[in-house]
Amino acid sequence: MPELNRLLKNVGLPGTRQMANRVAGQTEIIDLTLGQPDFPVPQAVRDRVMQAVDNEPMKYSHNRGMMELRKAITDFYKDKYTAEYEPSDEVIVTNGGSEALDTIFRTIINPGDEVIMPAPVYTGYEPIVTMLGGTAVLVDTTETGFIPTAQKLEAAMTQRTKAVLLNYPNNPTGAVYPKGTVASLVELFKRHDIFIVVDEMYAENTLDGEHHSFTSYPAIKDRLLAVNGLSKSHAMTGWRIGWLLGSAEMIEKLTLVHLYNTLCASMPSQIAALEALTGAADAPAEMNAAYKERRDYIYRRLVNMGLETVLPEGAFYIFPSIKGYNESSFDFAVELLEEAGVAVVPGAAFSEYGEGHIRISFATGMENLEEAADRMEKFLNGKKR
Ligand SMILES: Cc1ncc(COP(=O)(O)O)c(C=O)c1O
Repeated sequence: MPELNRLLKNVGLPGTRQMANRVAGQTEIIDLTLGQPDFPVPQAVRDRVMQAVDNEPMKYSHNRGMMELRKAITDFYKDKYTAEYEPSDEVIVTNGGSEALDTIFRTIINPGDEVIMPAPVYTGYEPIVTMLGGTAVLVDTTETGFIPTAQKLEAAMTQRTKAVLLNYPNNPTGAVYPKGTVASLVELFKRHDIFIVVDEMYAENTLDGEHHSFTSYPAIKDRLLAVNGLSKSHAMTGWRIGWLLGSAEMIEKLTLVHLYNTLCASMPSQIAALEALTGAADAPAEMNAAYKERRDYIYRRLVNMGLETVLPEGAFYIFPSIKGYNESSFDFAVELLEEAGVAVVPGAAFSEYGEGHIRISFATGMENLEEAADRMEKFLNGKKR
């Protein structure tokens, strides 16, 4: 067997998948590992695609995506965040947020470069950087409510820092950055010549207050790369559709990387995305009403169980501490699964800074959450602290 890419040795299956694979097909288990909405795709989106498949040619689009869709995306950013992006040359439609992230890092990373990431951190980032010969530099946010501070990010910067990668609402913690945090980070980024990559995949799933986007700050536009998509907002995980925004100068380069990977995003999904942004713009608010009810319920139950828990203000995850039990998050999660039939993701899946926590997804119905909380409470009552 010829040798494979050596950098692959440093990459394994994400911890989230490992746990989900363990419970797949076991009906008696309540699965709270899920990283995807449990709602159907909005009807208007499905209708539009069915009609398009029958009547439209579905050839390749422009490498950066259909013009109408790019315009809908830049209009959305203008309306929501007063962000000025040109549909012609400041946006690329991608095959999901994942492809957007991959395209960004393949465009900016040279071997030896460092990317600063607040942690606990989404499982999808570090492998991309590692596979390019770069290094993820994790910054602990556990002492500050899972929100990074400008001081801590600055302290992690070195001559090799190429970018900072931020994600909020956050997976796995549900943390949302207040406006003051975003403003103070903008001031920091003005002083350092690095890229700012922001993953806003859960922006539409902000449950309290509003999302404050870095795209609202023209002063850093030349180095800002923003990722978003419809996987979470419109329950369209399997449709693989997202986008990235950047300055015209950056998008020119990013387009090369994107096009030699995939030519263009899937056309049926581009048509679906256009409908989602124009004809189903209210879908996230409807889902959020349910997420909020579930979030409040599970938060209350976890606190009553004596678990230290930060109230998540966005996404559909809650990240309680299990530090009182003096065992690894992996052992805790396996016991919870085997003894109580509740599957969660061990916090260690999200880096060493997630250790001592578990991630519970509330992208599941209230009945499931109630039963899971009852089972978990019984499990904890029988456990030594
Ligand atoms: C923070 C974050 N970014 C990106 C993604 C990937 O998004 P997509 O399904 O659009 O590729 C996910 C999926 O779970 C996520 O949680």
